[in-house]
Amino acid sequence: MIQTHTIGIVGTGQVGMAAGYAVFLLGLANEIILIDKNRQRAEGEAMDLMHGQAFAGRVTVRAGDYGDLAAAQVVIVTAGVAQQPGESRLDLLNRNAAVFREIVGQLDRHCPKAVLIIASNPVDVLTYVTQALSNRSAKLVIGTGTMLDTARFRALLGQHYDVDPRSVHAYIFGEHGDSEVPVWSSATIGGVPLVDHTIAGKPFDREAMARLFGNVRDAAQEIISRKGYTNTAIGTAIARLVRAVLEDQRSVLPVSRRLDGQYGIDDVCLSIPTIVGRHGAADTLLPKLDDVESAGLRRSAKILRERLDGISL
Ligand code: 2OP
Repeated sequence: MIQTHTIGIVGTGQVGMAAGYAVFLLGLANEIILIDKNRQRAEGEAMDLMHGQAFAGRVTVRAGDYGDLAAAQVVIVTAGVAQQPGESRLDLLNRNAAVFREIVGQLDRHCPKAVLIIASNPVDVLTYVTQALSNRSAKLVIGTGTMLDTARFRALLGQHYDVDPRSVHAYIFGEHGDSEVPVWSSATIGGVPLVDHTIAGKPFDREAMARLFGNVRDAAQEIISRKGYTNTAIGTAIARLVRAVLEDQRSVLPVSRRLDGQYGIDDVCLSIPTIVGRHGAADTLLPKLDDVESAGLRRSAKILRERLDGISL
């Protein structure tokens, strides 16, 4: 029997459509359903994307309503409201939580078994909010978390060492944001630890590495100050997650998920390596952290918990 893959995208802004474009080009789905509160926009995006079928292959792309998501195995959520001038982060969060209440209610009604990929910011908080609002198993709600920061880390390390970033094994843990933690202690290239080793003729240079991590942490700001938003790299990260789920790849990805005791952290969503497949976010992997990394992760969890404490769910 031919397996059909249907995915939904809620929110057809820059991130939603970058994800849709990546999924389309990679041929991951037979059907992509676009949902936006601005229906016309979703229709325009659907028309524009589906015209590429002549080059990318046959994929049905259409604008729809939540009721069209019954067959969706994966739904990508990129919707959310933008910060208004003078609005506090907490007010914004509360407004986004209200938007999510509506979206999650609809998704629970129409596709209760689908895996939800949350990409809206602040992603760790909104992943937690989605899990709290949804009746589906928490494993079926995955935040993109530090997949993007980890991708940036690997890309910049690949550039520094002049090797393929896919051969760089290094993670960013914690919050997708300022308190994120680079895990140097288990970072390797070709099985060789980065710290204190020479790789491809380059010795480990602490200062250069500190600068490199700074560039990873501040990347979003740097990009936003130039082009106004970030979308293409997160689009590829989302497509990677979609593939892991649809093809049940059980890939180890740093996604945002609720911790229940890992590294002594509870009841907060943040990123650590997690096996992702058809059933969503499964087991976590817990590489040993050094003292600085452990303290950094606990700090990240504390910051995220404080943010959650201010939200009315
Ligand atoms: C990014 O890191 C803004 O979360 C977005 O590119």
